[in-house]
Amino acid sequence: MKEETLCLHYKTYDYDELPALERQLIDSAKAVCASAYAPYSKFQVGAAAWLDNGEIVCGSNQENAAYPSGTCAERCTVFYANARYPESAVLILAIAASNTPGEFLSSPITPCGACRQVLLETQRRFNTPMRILLYGTSQVLAFDSIDALLPFQFTGEDIKL
Ligand code: THU
Repeated sequence: MKEETLCLHYKTYDYDELPALERQLIDSAKAVCASAYAPYSKFQVGAAAWLDNGEIVCGSNQENAAYPSGTCAERCTVFYANARYPESAVLILAIAASNTPGEFLSSPITPCGACRQVLLETQRRFNTPMRILLYGTSQVLAFDSIDALLPFQFTGEDIKL
């Protein structure tokens, strides 16, 4: 038996320490929380993607009475970005969440497992690291790529015969 340890690397920032573009993306993710359709959870999540063509694409969580039919802000945003600009990599994705309109969580939320899997595939599709910014009022967590959020990855490579 061998015991292994895995280290994940990320950085924490105060919002004010971030460069202007990243603050803009966080502001966009916060603003788009207002467009969430979340009558069941009352939990609003917004995401803003910066693409390699310079565009910013935003999305929010969209719920449904048949709960699993809804989708998270991250998937809404990345799928929309890929549908609108199928040739463009997502270089940065900022995420913000609110459980009280106009107020944001102090500690950031992190993307759910299904979203991590989708973010991984988008990153691999364009072979470009996707920087991920998780906004909280007390700190922003920054990951250089989805790899730090999703170890032991399952990808299309695994199903090739
Ligand atoms: N949600 C997101 O949009 N992103 C996350 O990272 C976590 C959860 C949404 C899904 C659902 O609409 C609500 O938050 C409560 O889980």
